[in-house]
Amino acid sequence: ATNRTFTMLKPDAVEKRHIGAILDKISASGFRIVAMKLTQMTKGDAETFYAIHNERPFFGELVEYMTRGPIVAAVLEKENAVEDFRTLIGATNPADAAEGTIRKLYATSMGENAVHGSDSDENAAIESAFHFSGREIF
Ligand code: CMP
Repeated sequence: ATNRTFTMLKPDAVEKRHIGAILDKISASGFRIVAMKLTQMTKGDAETFYAIHNERPFFGELVEYMTRGPIVAAVLEKENAVEDFRTLIGATNPADAAEGTIRKLYATSMGENAVHGSDSDENAAIESAFHFSGREIF
């Protein structure tokens, strides 16, 4: 079925001027952009968004990274969007990511991995609502 996923082009990708290349790859892979903006997460935003990781040793580093500059937040629509987008971005660690995936091409490291993709339909809806109001999603 056609469904939606949520993505962020993370601060490292924006700093390295990879926004255009990554959006081009997303579009060429069949995803329709139904919401998008440049925004910056506050510390509170990042702590809430990544609350599931708050016991992890890398949590402080993750919050620091995700708040250090602007991100591109977007909602993407496609048949099987959540799973297909995770395939397109590749493994969390770019060293393990398949050839041609966004993380293989553009990620800096395991921590600074260029792009986020929701891991379930339920989280896609929660994450989209975190960043966008209903009237910003088309
Ligand atoms: P993502 O899987 O999108 O969401 C959790 C993020 O935490 C992950 O991307 C990385 O940015 C970061 N992360 C995951 N594992 C590690 C790790 N071992 N060290 C540092 N950062 C990590």
